[in-house]
Amino acid sequence: MSRLEGKTAFITGAASGIGAACARRFAEEGARIAGCDLQKPLPGADWSAAEAAAPDHWFRDGLDVRDEAAIQDAVASVEDKVGPIDILVNAAGVAGVGPAHDLAAEDWDRVIDINLKGSFLSAKHVLPSMMARGTGSIIHVASVEGIEGMAGSLSYNASKGGVVLMTRNMALDYGTAGIRVNCLCPGLIETPLTEIVWQADEVLRQMVSWHALNRPGKPEEVANAALFLASDEASFVTGHAMVVDGGWTAGRRFTS
Ligand SMILES: NC(=O)c1ccc[n+]([C@@H]2O[C@H](COP(=O)([O-])OP(=O)(O)OC[C@H]3O[C@@H](n4cnc5c(N)ncnc54)[C@H](O)[C@@H]3O)[C@@H](O)[C@H]2O)c1
Repeated sequence: MSRLEGKTAFITGAASGIGAACARRFAEEGARIAGCDLQKPLPGADWSAAEAAAPDHWFRDGLDVRDEAAIQDAVASVEDKVGPIDILVNAAGVAGVGPAHDLAAEDWDRVIDINLKGSFLSAKHVLPSMMARGTGSIIHVASVEGIEGMAGSLSYNASKGGVVLMTRNMALDYGTAGIRVNCLCPGLIETPLTEIVWQADEVLRQMVSWHALNRPGKPEEVANAALFLASDEASFVTGHAMVVDGGWTAGRRFTS
């Protein structure tokens, strides 16, 4: 029996990286997939293959998670065309750099609005049907940078710290309705979001050394953790910020 047989998953940021990996992994486990993103699926995101294999998969590009009306409309379309949403993965996100004195207020707003408010809005519109059915699993994608600080990433860290605490609040607000809410805190993962790191040898070397496993992670490794949280195997797990970080937050080690 596949682990997500009969379930419908709605995934934001599904055109690339971690969101696309979740779409692939969940589809392998029998879920119907509804994805959305600002952009069209990147090569390798595999949406055409997924749609050919299961015509009830659904994808909408041009959707900005900051746009509440667009999110509301997408959720209604998914519920109508694919099925009631059992699993929400909020993977849409952007990086943000700059210390406070050098950060434009518009940049702060953009990062907080996409990473934090966007996750709130998707959850807000998926929740009513989950509440009516007394079941659901919401998975926000936070970051190790929602747990620890990182010099020069003020807006990103603030947004992800907000996602971690939003996760705990939502777990408390919807636990008695049968809805579990968790988040993932990945370390450095090889996706387009971190492309700039791969181009800077010294930054990459330092960041890799912060992981006990001494390597970056792959989107598929984050998707495997998302699969656990999405599945009934995690039936007693809620309000949890799960690190998928190769040991980043385990502590410091000496490097030569
Ligand atoms: N890659 C990492 O090292 C890493 C580490 C920790 C957390 N994360 C988080 O994981 C999530 C996924 O990131 P990724 O690494 O897969 O990056 P990615 O760039 O591959 O994917 C992010 C997707 O979000 C979409 N997106 C951006 N703004 C949007 C908007 N306003 N509306 C709708 N879609 C939008 C992008 O188009 C993109 O397809 C993000 O929240 C990111 O912060 C990534």
